[in-house]
Amino acid sequence: MKIVSTISEAREAVKSARSAGKTIGLVPTMGSLHEGHLSLVRASKSACGFTAASIFVNPTQFNSSEDYNTYPRDAGRDLELLDKEGVDMVFAPPFEEMYREKTSAYIDIGKLSEIFEGKLRPGHFRGVCTVVCKLFNIITPDRAYFGWKDAQQLIIIKKMVKALNMPVEVIGCPTVRESDGLAASSRNIFIAAGERERALCLYKSLKKIEELLLKQNIRDTAILLEEGRKIITKYPDVELQYLEITDAENLECIEEVKGRALVLGAIKLSRVRLIDNLTLSF
Ligand code: PAJ
Repeated sequence: MKIVSTISEAREAVKSARSAGKTIGLVPTMGSLHEGHLSLVRASKSACGFTAASIFVNPTQFNSSEDYNTYPRDAGRDLELLDKEGVDMVFAPPFEEMYREKTSAYIDIGKLSEIFEGKLRPGHFRGVCTVVCKLFNIITPDRAYFGWKDAQQLIIIKKMVKALNMPVEVIGCPTVRESDGLAASSRNIFIAAGERERALCLYKSLKKIEELLLKQNIRDTAILLEEGRKIITKYPDVELQYLEITDAENLECIEEVKGRALVLGAIKLSRVRLIDNLTLSF
């Protein structure tokens, strides 16, 4: 596995893979890897002759310097895991390599980035889109892999690629969960030992909504959300930040579930914010 920290080295490695006729797959990450990330690597490996993973904790997508500074980092372990998966190249640039220009240029995709996560974390998706666009320009992947765990991020990146005619296919991969259902996340290490049950209430609420839809045929989203919110609000020390049912393509809130929809939410525990979602099909 080749490990590179500069843009020119990354470009060179990709150039030789492409001239050998290989399809280039990219898995962008912020490191602190878990099974969710590795599932994206496996998806890329199964379809692409050359898989690149990036590790870069991108400061422009963090709202608080505390969150950025405390974001878990473990480069040695990450590289070992990626090597075991058979990744061809890891691009792990320092800050200065990614943000060398003094003059800022950003990608702003508008309304979709101002709701849900974007409303709670202003500027977050501008930072995400900008760094993902930079990674696409550096690696020039044929395919790029993202998790449904961050559904809004995935939808926004698909939108960016379409709106800006970027020559890359964005592939969404299913959310990987721990054995009790909690979505795998780098931030799960901040869940205190006695907090696990509370951490699971968001997933339980999503599952309740799915069950009411599929087993009791309830399609009215006001009723579904009321039942789902009850599961979260019974824990007084869990802050429910949002829980909504939307169209699965454009994230617009809907009144009735018809076809494919998304139920997505965020909660805050003492030291950690958790997000999760399920696709609903009716
Ligand atoms: P990060 O949180 O490290 O996630 C990297 C990729 O892994 C994202 O596409 C995310 O959706 C996916 N992922 C995380 N948890 C997952 C899970 N449980 N199951 C499946 N996929 C999962 O998302 C980012 O980094 C950054 O915003 C990034 C896109 C790298 C830009 O900086």
